[in-house]
Amino acid sequence: MSATIIDGKAVARDIQLQLAEDVRSLARDRGVVPGLAVILVGDDPASRVYVNNKRRMCEKLGMYSEEHLLPAATPREEITNLIKRLNADDRIHGILVQLPLPDRLDERAVLEAVDPSKDVDGFHPVNMGRLVMGSPVFVPCTPAGIMELIRRTGIDLAGKRATVVGRSNIVGKPVSLLLLAQHATVTICHSRTVDLVGVCREADILVVAAGRARLIGRDHVKPGAVVIDVGINREPSGLVGDVDFDEVREVAGYLTPVPGGVGPMTIAMLMKNTILAARRFAYCEHP
Ligand code: GUN
Repeated sequence: MSATIIDGKAVARDIQLQLAEDVRSLARDRGVVPGLAVILVGDDPASRVYVNNKRRMCEKLGMYSEEHLLPAATPREEITNLIKRLNADDRIHGILVQLPLPDRLDERAVLEAVDPSKDVDGFHPVNMGRLVMGSPVFVPCTPAGIMELIRRTGIDLAGKRATVVGRSNIVGKPVSLLLLAQHATVTICHSRTVDLVGVCREADILVVAAGRARLIGRDHVKPGAVVIDVGINREPSGLVGDVDFDEVREVAGYLTPVPGGVGPMTIAMLMKNTILAARRFAYCEHP
């Protein structure tokens, strides 16, 4: 048996068609063009690529976008002042601060400066709190993309065992909450977990966001499980995930590739959140 490979690129393209239509109808009905501002501090090459991709996607969908590229040494107040200006700018409905920030900057203070009604990353404590309490507004983009890929397998999560490897605020914690909201029994693993193989092997759904190339092999996977690989590790041979693709495809029921799995979904979900923010603005639904 060989796993069904989940084509994240194709799913993302499908979603983009709907989003382009949503952009047109918001412009037609309310005269509002969704606008996204992206802030990048420093010149991390991978972040640069992500920021460029976001701009291109905005153009493709007919949205407005702004890039704010700041030197690595920019003082925190300068960044928060820019965020305050963007909070007050009616052309901008979504604000994204590309992570990671340079080490010397207090990430929490910067993210908390974003108005929660423009926080399309869903990283502000208000939006995280809404997610914890089961009534999210802006769901973090990678977790939202993961859930959409799982939804399209047609598998009902109620009562299933879901294991998440990694406990980051960006992926591990929020995706665990989303799986829980779909009534899965959720286990979160991390670097101190004892018997990772045993815990992963119980999972009907295995989401891996650990940031370690090929951490998950054949032995970690229950036959027939859905395996979602969130890892993006740069190796001389190219990009590899946290899952050993060749091994795991022989046991899993469904598997996402790297690249072409979760990655394209993240950006689609960012656009979806920005359009949602613009719609809330246009219809005055924001608090
Ligand atoms: N860096 C890696 N993933 C993300 C993300 O989802 N949002 C932001 N802002 N930065 C990231």
